[in-house]
Amino acid sequence: MIAPKVTAQTIRAMKARGEKIAALTAYDFPMTRLLDEAGIPLILVGDSLGMVVLGYPDTTRVTMPEMEHHTRAAARAKPRALLVADLPYQSYQTVESALANGKRLVAAGAEAVKAEGGREILPQVQAIVSSGIPFLGHLGMLPQHVLEEGGYHVKGKNEPEHQALLADAEALAQAGAFAIVLELVTPRVAKELTQRLPLPTIGIGAGPDCDGQILVTPDLLGMLPWYNLKHVKPKLNAAEQMRAVVKEWKESVET
Ligand code: KIV
Repeated sequence: MIAPKVTAQTIRAMKARGEKIAALTAYDFPMTRLLDEAGIPLILVGDSLGMVVLGYPDTTRVTMPEMEHHTRAAARAKPRALLVADLPYQSYQTVESALANGKRLVAAGAEAVKAEGGREILPQVQAIVSSGIPFLGHLGMLPQHVLEEGGYHVKGKNEPEHQALLADAEALAQAGAFAIVLELVTPRVAKELTQRLPLPTIGIGAGPDCDGQILVTPDLLGMLPWYNLKHVKPKLNAAEQMRAVVKEWKESVET
């Protein structure tokens, strides 16, 4: 039997059924196809693209044309998975720009969009949802704010941050988000949000009690040995294996 296409409603319904959501990022055709063949239900063309593919120091330099280019490549895999694309830095400052750029990502092949923030982007979220584009929220550490915040800091450690996360999450739920990514949120607060919200939470560095987990695929596969991340232990040493194969082939050519 052919498995049906995953939609935003499917992801939302997984919480009600108590099914955990395993989500990963992809930025091109082959990785999207491989993740889809492995049965991953939600694939994100994340703006982590900037760091793990384009070599930028953070995500703030990623542009709309870059997101469109990689979303098109991923969409060519025609995944069964729900394909979500990130609205990049400063592409959703106003309702008009959020709507126009959300539509551009959909035209590139995205089936839902994600943007970072809570109450401060609520009119943009409401406009995106009202236009019929499914919206994935992103709370906690917001990588597009890394320069203002001076680093990647865990959120929810004190009462004001805890209260702000609760209020932001409730606001996104009411605005119609189908799920919320919680990045670097204390496990205690992530668990509380997961229990309180009717929609799924998808954690990254937010403890084991979210409704799902998301990782940046090159981190999971050990493709970026130059970075040392606390929240992910690579399951494969792809960089080491690639170096060894290339070296062996080079030697076979040279001798
Ligand atoms: O850009 C990205 O890959 C993300 C994930 C870390 C959730 O936003």
